[in-house]
Amino acid sequence: MTSIIHIENLNLYYDQFHALKNVSLDIPEKAITAFIGPSGCGKSTLLRTLNRMNDMIPSTRIEGSVQIANTEIYSDDVHVEALRKQVGMVFQQPNPFPKSIYDNVAYGPRLHGVKNKSQLDEIVEQSLRQAVLWDEVKDFLKRSAFSLSGGQQQRLCIARAIAVQPDILLMDEATSALDPISTLKIEELVQQLKDRYTIVMVTHNMHQAARISDRTVFFLNGEIVEADDTQKLFSTPQDARTEDYISGRFG
Ligand SMILES: Nc1ncnc2c1ncn2[C@@H]1O[C@H](COP(=O)(O)OP(=O)(O)O)[C@@H](O)[C@H]1O
Ligand SMILES: [Mg+2]
Repeated sequence: MTSIIHIENLNLYYDQFHALKNVSLDIPEKAITAFIGPSGCGKSTLLRTLNRMNDMIPSTRIEGSVQIANTEIYSDDVHVEALRKQVGMVFQQPNPFPKSIYDNVAYGPRLHGVKNKSQLDEIVEQSLRQAVLWDEVKDFLKRSAFSLSGGQQQRLCIARAIAVQPDILLMDEATSALDPISTLKIEELVQQLKDRYTIVMVTHNMHQAARISDRTVFFLNGEIVEADDTQKLFSTPQDARTEDYISGRFG
């Protein structure tokens, strides 16, 4: 597998607190990589380094290398807006804008200069189709995004992220606020999306990682304990701490 993200000796500090310790990791293209581990082990922190969301936290200091498609994303000449277009993000709580369904999806493309109405219509439809939401909303595109259920709102947020044609989609516990049926829908959707996008997902639910990811990375106290093919990591973990965690002895 070709890797699209290459992380080497990454250290991240929040003031004095050493949150990521010597993290090195390759993330394969067009596959699902899951980050698992107990609360507070650094999963979200590492995910946020991949589109420089940590830039918004003033106490953050970062050392080491993060390359995406061979570009050093922390170098001074990187355009953060362009990076975030390439690397989209979906959060734990669905967070649609207080706008119509249509305008939520059209927001990013408009921001990046698409003005033509029929072109926007096409992007909105394709994005909603990819997010498996089109059939449910096609007759109500002018309605507020808040009229949708939580699960639909989360699929709308995925459509919004897809609409700017990212290469990578980051998902931080994107199903943990949803009911089991909506969770299943998103899991199916994510598996379809990996044909087109590289997906990196944080989940505190290791069963979810086992169900849908291709690679799994297990974190503890800001360090990677083990990274491997998902099936291998869950069937024959190499480290005793991984084994303890996946067998439910802590976490
Ligand atoms: N903005 C922040 N300022 C200071 N410490 C933080 C901040 N965000 C996270 N941390 C700390 O960094 C560690 C890792 O947090 P996080 O990446 O959110 O873990 P996870 O997503 O695995 O639960 C935790 O100890 C957390 O308290
Ligand atoms: Mg987290």
